[in-house]
Amino acid sequence: MTTEARVKEYEDAVHAEVLDDLQVGDHGYKYRVLDGVVMPPYITPGRYQTSRELVTRPDDVCFVSFPKSGSTWLSYILVLALHGGQEPEGQTLRSSLHWVASSWTYPRSRAELDAMPSPRIFKSHMPVQMALGGGPTRSPCRYIYIARNPKDVVTSYYFFERGKSWAGGYSGPWPHWFRMFMDGQVQRGSWFEHVAGWWESAHLSNVLFLTYEDLLEDMDAQLIRLSDFLGLDLDEAQRRSIREKTAFDQMRSAEYSNLRDVKEFREFFRRGVSGTWRDQLTPEQSAEIDERFRERFGQNGLRLKGMEP
Ligand code: PPS
Repeated sequence: MTTEARVKEYEDAVHAEVLDDLQVGDHGYKYRVLDGVVMPPYITPGRYQTSRELVTRPDDVCFVSFPKSGSTWLSYILVLALHGGQEPEGQTLRSSLHWVASSWTYPRSRAELDAMPSPRIFKSHMPVQMALGGGPTRSPCRYIYIARNPKDVVTSYYFFERGKSWAGGYSGPWPHWFRMFMDGQVQRGSWFEHVAGWWESAHLSNVLFLTYEDLLEDMDAQLIRLSDFLGLDLDEAQRRSIREKTAFDQMRSAEYSNLRDVKEFREFFRRGVSGTWRDQLTPEQSAEIDERFRERFGQNGLRLKGMEP
């Protein structure tokens, strides 16, 4: 990977591009609002528009999640699945993907995106109404959504956001963070609406809905679902190789996937398990999430391990 291709360390002027609409909330949390949803500064209006208007192809794959739900893990699985079980040569995980709405990967114009060979793999953290390519009812792209228990999401997100300029420089205490999460004021808005929007699209033939907990519990079964969805026919040896390469410790240490080329992300791989929320949420906070989960998902059939419907 060339030096120019590396992601530059965070600076507003480089990554937020337009500075006029940047806002600073409590505890220094920097953000902007796009289509009514709180977004990180590095999701810019121009890039967002490019991602919305992208002309997608039937063999494109876009993986999507609310932050901290296992999307990086899923991205490595996808890259391997689509490249016969091997990493593309001369790349890193980051450079193997296109995150069009973001300045995270290297700037890519519409013309450059159009010229990229298939299969293109797109990363996104957008709610369904803001999805790349106009969303699954309008675009032939295949969308793979991954959801995770919200108690683990709010916990992982707290440790991830604190003090990082990339993440908006949040420096508040846990109870404040929890309240912002419940009020849909963290970047990407309400977890409940994000998951509900994609879940309600999961019946479409170009949407596959996965969960972090299912990947942890039975990766092979999820690889078979993924393989069927993508029409890949991965055999047992290929699935084993994907399982081994994407195991938490392996992924954290491998040069290709450790994300250490950006300083603030040296500690990206935190725990990689379910249930660390038990060290973080009070019983009242846990009960509040349960209650909201029941209200939002009690009737629409979503089940997440560790969450009662
Ligand atoms: S991001 O920054 O929003 O894209 O984060 P995302 O990749 O969606 O989620 C990060 C959490 O996923 C954990 N992780 C993994 N778990 C299991 N196995 C593997 N291979 C793996 N890779 C990343 C990562 O550690 C974050 O969860 P926590 O709970 O903080 O450990």
